[in-house]
Amino acid sequence: MRARIVAGNWKMNTVPSEGVGLVVEILEKLDSKYTGDTRVILSPPFTHLIDVIDHVWEVPQISVAAQNCHHEDNGAYTGEISAGMISDLNIDAVILGHSERRQYFGEDDALLAKKVNAAIRNSLMPIFCVGEVLEDRKANKHNEVVTSQLTQGLFHLSSEEFKNVIIAYEPVWAIGTGETASPQQAQDMHKSIRAHVASKYGEDAANNVSILYGGSVKPNNASEIFSQPDVDGGLIGGASLNADDFVSIVHAMA
Ligand code: G3P
Repeated sequence: MRARIVAGNWKMNTVPSEGVGLVVEILEKLDSKYTGDTRVILSPPFTHLIDVIDHVWEVPQISVAAQNCHHEDNGAYTGEISAGMISDLNIDAVILGHSERRQYFGEDDALLAKKVNAAIRNSLMPIFCVGEVLEDRKANKHNEVVTSQLTQGLFHLSSEEFKNVIIAYEPVWAIGTGETASPQQAQDMHKSIRAHVASKYGEDAANNVSILYGGSVKPNNASEIFSQPDVDGGLIGGASLNADDFVSIVHAMA
């Protein structure tokens, strides 16, 4: 049974005190309705990782992810943070390949493949993001784009290494826009991603990999998206910064 996950990507938001307050609020609101089957992952900025871990480490179903890591384990890379440094904080995962990293920081598939290797080498689960821009969707090239991102960024992994991967489909045109993909659009792409995983790693791997949807998930649309057979949860941006909204989305997985 693959994991059902709701992850909150805080991006470059909140100062540490606000971040701790948000975590405390989320913990207080995750009451008895919170199904133990849904894993919650919080992904704050680097400056909050220790504080967030300190607040959630006793809650089995909540873990923490970093939003990036360098592809090398050490060296003269001013300002960078390695996967090993993140793993030493008892962090479980790292978001890689997010469209904002691809767009603003020029992270291409070759670099992302190295980052995936660094994450796995240091016991971090890659939450690997794929997704097309609006022009590709309009040109009906979205499947081609996502397939290439999977193949170039992930499919060099061994079957054993791939078991550590979480995939997030985030159509770029839906991120932060309020233009959520329709449940059918999400299902179609998730089904396609799962089929590519099956052809590369086999049916068991395909059935076991969690594929999250991201892109304007809100409390009023989460249930319908999450009810799709190949959607295993969500990677939430804006709504993860509001405890009520984020917990409502977690409950939508029930
Ligand atoms: O990584 C998740 C994020 O890109 C989605 O953002 O604000 O559309 O939920 P948002």
